[in-house]
Amino acid sequence: MSLDATLTSQERLAELDLEQLRRLVGLVDHDPTTDPFPVTGWDAVVWAVGNATQAALVYQAVWGMELVAYSGPETGNRDHHAYVLRSGAVRFVVQGGVDPASELLDHHRRHGDGIVDIALEVPDVDRCVAHARSQGATVLVEPHDVSDEHGTVRTAAIAAYGDTRHTLVDRSRYTGPYLPGYVARTGVTAGPRLFEALDHVVGNVELGRMDEWVSFYNRVMGFTNMAEFVGEDIATEYSALMSKVVASGNHRVKFPLNEPAIAKKRSQIDEYLEFYGGPGAQHLALATSDILATVDALRARGVEFLATPESYYSDPELRARIGHVRVPIEELASRGILVDRDEDGYLLQIFTRPLGDRPTVFFELIERHGSLGFGAGNFQALFEAIEREQARRGNF
Ligand SMILES: [Fe+2]
Repeated sequence: MSLDATLTSQERLAELDLEQLRRLVGLVDHDPTTDPFPVTGWDAVVWAVGNATQAALVYQAVWGMELVAYSGPETGNRDHHAYVLRSGAVRFVVQGGVDPASELLDHHRRHGDGIVDIALEVPDVDRCVAHARSQGATVLVEPHDVSDEHGTVRTAAIAAYGDTRHTLVDRSRYTGPYLPGYVARTGVTAGPRLFEALDHVVGNVELGRMDEWVSFYNRVMGFTNMAEFVGEDIATEYSALMSKVVASGNHRVKFPLNEPAIAKKRSQIDEYLEFYGGPGAQHLALATSDILATVDALRARGVEFLATPESYYSDPELRARIGHVRVPIEELASRGILVDRDEDGYLLQIFTRPLGDRPTVFFELIERHGSLGFGAGNFQALFEAIEREQARRGNF
């Protein structure tokens, strides 16, 4: 197998190579032949939103994504609008109901804007589904072919936490812009690419259910446990959460799973569960090779980030732990960018405020320099910042 064959179709399109992916998202070598559920990488993150037409504009004009495909009434889909957007290897599909009877509108009524499907590219859909079924997973869509003039896609879907699903896609025999039923479409161009790859997608589940979902990803999808944060690792005086991380064999796909922990006040996970109406995807980490430029561009276009306390940068203990990073700490402080370091290196990260009207899903931007962690050392400072925001909303 050539090295190139181990790239996803999106990565090839984005002209990313394996070395860049090692640096960007911590890709590791993996032998798929021994994997019961081989996953090549992310295929798409599918959103249900209240207004897909406007969300597609925001993702282009603000987030610098490129519109590449479309499905809607003009293409024979009378149920909903779907816009396919791309930045580097990241593909978003934003969907909004057109027909008043569309199921998407019911989903939106329950959950607000959110992620309905974390779709994965796999080399063998049937093998994955057979393994998932043998491990007790709920198969929502049986393996089947869909075809158009660009070729054939084989696809299926399994249920994940809450109303979230994983569609499995083998697009090795397909050359179209997204999936059969979609037509190529272009839109506005908003300057340079602001992010290159998807690093991880975090799921929030109910109190006491985290280990169940860790076990689901272990058994059903053959994912391995990466890191574990429990109890005091992620606790402030008033709110706490537990988090464990599972990853696909090649570490492209990483799923931290959070559950609330008992504390004096309501944690950010409890707030999410209440406003999303159950478990769901909490945040997506977008990998960039220049987080400073990305944050500057996004701020200039109105994106709001969580404020980081001044004390975060002046704290001598923290400064000592951070050590030498690629830019002066003042450059990070002026933007509110957080730093974390472990034995493998460091990472820079920052979090947006919630994207929609409900205090639910948000983005993280991440620039990795060797560290394969998730910013555990930042949790304390970060959660205190989140709690101040919760208090401003009257939910703390
Ligand atoms: Fe994260």
